[in-house]
Amino acid sequence: MEKHSVESSQDSNLFEDSTTSLLEDLSPLPRRRPRASLFWKIAICAQSLALLACIGYILRLPLSVCKPTIWSPVEKLQSFELKTSTPYFYNRSPYVGKEAERIDKLWEDLYDGKYTSFRQAMLILEAGMISAISSDEASHLLNETRAAPKAPDLYLIQLQVFHDLHCLNLIRKWAYMDVYSDQAVWVDGKIDHNTKNAFHVDHCIDNLRQSIMCTNDITPRKFAPHANERQYYVYPEIYTTQMCGNFEAINEWSKERRVVEWMMGFDDEWQRTRYNIGMPDPED
Ligand SMILES: *[C@@H]1O[C@H](CO)[C@@H](O)[C@H](O)[C@H]1NC(C)=O
Repeated sequence: MEKHSVESSQDSNLFEDSTTSLLEDLSPLPRRRPRASLFWKIAICAQSLALLACIGYILRLPLSVCKPTIWSPVEKLQSFELKTSTPYFYNRSPYVGKEAERIDKLWEDLYDGKYTSFRQAMLILEAGMISAISSDEASHLLNETRAAPKAPDLYLIQLQVFHDLHCLNLIRKWAYMDVYSDQAVWVDGKIDHNTKNAFHVDHCIDNLRQSIMCTNDITPRKFAPHANERQYYVYPEIYTTQMCGNFEAINEWSKERRVVEWMMGFDDEWQRTRYNIGMPDPED
């Protein structure tokens, strides 16, 4: 009985308390301090949450640009900025055309990719630019690579951008095979698509297909009006604005780290085997 009365007294206290607070909320009189501070705590908390959500929303923009990447020795050099491409069409880009010597030189500035074999000085191989990295740098690679056969402390890599450029350059030469007449073998007025170079071109087309689909550039391109007296057209623009990596910085690093020669003998089975399995040179 006594216990019950205690409980009921507690109940009535609770009831009293909540009634008071309800009245207080409606009352224009100044509130009692503890209740007021609880109100402000909740208000400040709600405000901070809103602020956090707001910062999160603002940060979403740059964060969405940061994609998960595979470690690269130049990742700290990479930065991004808006770039607008040059609208070449009937006014031909300097990177294409029939003046082979001048144009080859321009492409060579984009990636210095000419290599001579150690053993066959006559063999000039055109590949993307190849870079040397230290064994410490090599230890960070997702995909283990090989040391240069003549310099076992230098590990060989090629940045994807240079392989892609090399491929585009090869396809360019194929497109201008009237100038680069060594590109194709013609049989009865038809191109033999089963030569080594033809397979190389096919490899390059497919490398670029996969590389472009991998990059998956979702930048929207704009359309623009092109009117004449009779009609009003809306065309996609031939130039575009993209968020671009700083190619120059990567190119500079790669030229400093460029491997000038390395062991690669397509004609010599022994050399090829040694290159592929990275065995030490028996002559050293
Ligand atoms: C690179 O490493 C990943 C993860 O281990 C693997 O799935 C992939 O096949 C490797 N790629 C090459 C080119 O070796």
